[in-house]
Amino acid sequence: MFINEIKIENFRNIGFMGLFPDKGINVIYGENGQGKTNILEGIWLFTGCKSFRTSKDTELVNFESENAKISIEFETELRNNTASVFIDKKRQASLNGVLLTSPRELIGKYYSVVFSPVHLSLIKDGPLNRRKFIDTAISQIDETYAKKLAYYNHLVNQKNALLKNAAVDSSLIDTFDVWDEKIAESGALVIKSRIDYLNMLENYASDIYSGISDKKEEMKISYAGSFRFENEDTACIKENFLKNLQKNRSNDLYLKSTTCGPHRDDIEIFVKDISARKFGSQGQQRSASLALKFGEAEIIKEIRGEDPVILLDDVMSELDLTRQNYILNKIKNKQVFITCCEKETVSRLCAGKVYRIENGNAVE
Ligand SMILES: Nc1ncnc2c1ncn2[C@@H]1O[C@H](COP(=O)(O)OP(=O)(O)OP(=O)(O)O)[C@@H](O)[C@H]1O
Ligand SMILES: [Mg+2]
Repeated sequence: MFINEIKIENFRNIGFMGLFPDKGINVIYGENGQGKTNILEGIWLFTGCKSFRTSKDTELVNFESENAKISIEFETELRNNTASVFIDKKRQASLNGVLLTSPRELIGKYYSVVFSPVHLSLIKDGPLNRRKFIDTAISQIDETYAKKLAYYNHLVNQKNALLKNAAVDSSLIDTFDVWDEKIAESGALVIKSRIDYLNMLENYASDIYSGISDKKEEMKISYAGSFRFENEDTACIKENFLKNLQKNRSNDLYLKSTTCGPHRDDIEIFVKDISARKFGSQGQQRSASLALKFGEAEIIKEIRGEDPVILLDDVMSELDLTRQNYILNKIKNKQVFITCCEKETVSRLCAGKVYRIENGNAVE
């Protein structure tokens, strides 16, 4: 998949910008705070997901404007498309001239994978970022996943409110069986999707990892659930989830929150069978993060039959030459937008196009 044209209006510090990117590597360089990441953020929104930097859409609109608009023309195997994202108080999107009910309907039409300094610390960060990574990754290949997850989170929030109120109204406890049943059922679907995804991801990521590490080391991934289940089928996960909700009830009442379930789960990454999070060197952790992200791109290609547009935000200078070369090799034949500060990095990249960004403007 390739973007042939981008128009950005009143988005962050960009008043107006029009680009005709190359089908290969596009380098976006300039000093700090000029608007490089803003461009990637704008392109990312066509995935239908929220920004990778903020969950508040209103922050995306230029301080002095009422609304922002980004339009792209993109080409898939099958056809040429136009898409727009508008942001005022809420975010809306259109595809080929038709206003969509939700920007999420862009899922399955356009794909990107973003890799930024945040992702470089994916392995050693807390579980929240790893859950965010996997949830976003699954959303791009499964249109139903975001809804399943939102429903589950909604149920947990409702239950948590009841756990708080039960201290003053103990009759609420009688309703918990019904809530737990719903939570276990919807949570099991979320966990099942995540496990299926990780099984796919492990295949790709372990290959990529061994490529980066010169076949010296092996990487494995497992789902670190907040409760145990004997096998990976949905019924078994649900049954064990329910048992745990019941077992934890008095503790949850004391803590006024639901202490097990996919909202507390994690992903564990192993290098040479040892936890990379706890014991991995910085290099191993970085290689593993890279492997997860490039594995994500391979899965999109496998499931959707299209290469995603790759967005690399400020990561090259953070990586050593071996890893840089590995990335450059991996992104061949894909469209890439890559930001960096120094012009020297640009020359190494064999860019198709180079844009210098200054105060929200692009100079080719
Ligand atoms: N809603 C907004 N309206 C106007 N300007 C904004 C808005 N949001 C962010 N900015 C400005 O955008 C700039 C940051 O842009 P961006 O993050 O793209 O910089 P960058 O070029 O990637 O810098 P760095 O090299 O430090 O990563 C800042 O100057 C910030 O004040
Ligand atoms: Mg930046």
